[in-house]
Amino acid sequence: MKHLISIRDIKKEDILKILEKSEEMEKLLQTNKAIKRLDGKILGTLFFEPSTRTRLSFETAMKRLGGSVIGFTDIKNTSTMKGESLKDTIRVISGYVDIIAIRHPKDGASRLASEYSKVPVINAGDGSNQHPTQTLLDLYTIKREIGKIDGIKICFVGDLKYGRTVHSLCYALSMFKNVEFHFIAPDELKLPREVIAELERKDLTYYEYKDMEFKDDLDIIYMTRIQKERFPDLAEYEKVKGIYKLTKKHILNSKAIIMHPLPRVDEIDESVDNLPQSKYFKQSFYGVPVRMAILDMLLNK
Ligand code: CP
Repeated sequence: MKHLISIRDIKKEDILKILEKSEEMEKLLQTNKAIKRLDGKILGTLFFEPSTRTRLSFETAMKRLGGSVIGFTDIKNTSTMKGESLKDTIRVISGYVDIIAIRHPKDGASRLASEYSKVPVINAGDGSNQHPTQTLLDLYTIKREIGKIDGIKICFVGDLKYGRTVHSLCYALSMFKNVEFHFIAPDELKLPREVIAELERKDLTYYEYKDMEFKDDLDIIYMTRIQKERFPDLAEYEKVKGIYKLTKKHILNSKAIIMHPLPRVDEIDESVDNLPQSKYFKQSFYGVPVRMAILDMLLNK
């Protein structure tokens, strides 16, 4: 694995290796000792779109491993504003750093970056396409909190059309055995046909609904934000915003853990936060050991 662009580029055995290494990294973090595995290495964080968790957990991961970080979070302060192409930016920055994490509003931008980079490129989210490092931390959360990935029953809720974390996670889960998928979305935000096609190709069981009602035997409820920034017409966003809001009453009879890639807007009521099954803040913490594992695997082959 030279780059990490799409979860579909990785084999299941590589995913399992990353999850194993993430567990080692989590244990190392608990010792509070300095870890020097990436001493002298530099991560470039090129964020052409806003981020809190992904960028800051990448920075934390790199620094915890003894490396350092350069980057930008606001393209207004970069030469992109003077008309520099992404290709040229990557050609230049890949001469400065040892590894790049890039987030970009355009689908496919990370793949393009990897074609012009001299160093490994990690997709930190490209448009509504994919978010593979989120998927790895989602899988890690499932493994840590449920104890298995094979055979789980998972229900995705919300913006399944533009939600890149949903697409990546569906592709990844389709590599595991007997996973059962449930999808709750309005007609306008249904899962893209190509993701459904992958589940069908692998003969996996899936169900689609519009109403937010949960079966009692689910293992995971994966809530998502309606991705306002991806709608070409804001009037369309206004029609679906606030369509689903998870409250305690929805999960009275459910033992499912609640996950969310975050940020949350209003799709989970705050009264749900303190329930033992609510794992979304723990999920965002797991971003640190998982991104430590990814950086270490790409840089210390
Ligand atoms: N989950 C996620 O990608 O969060 P950020 O947009 O804050 O990075």
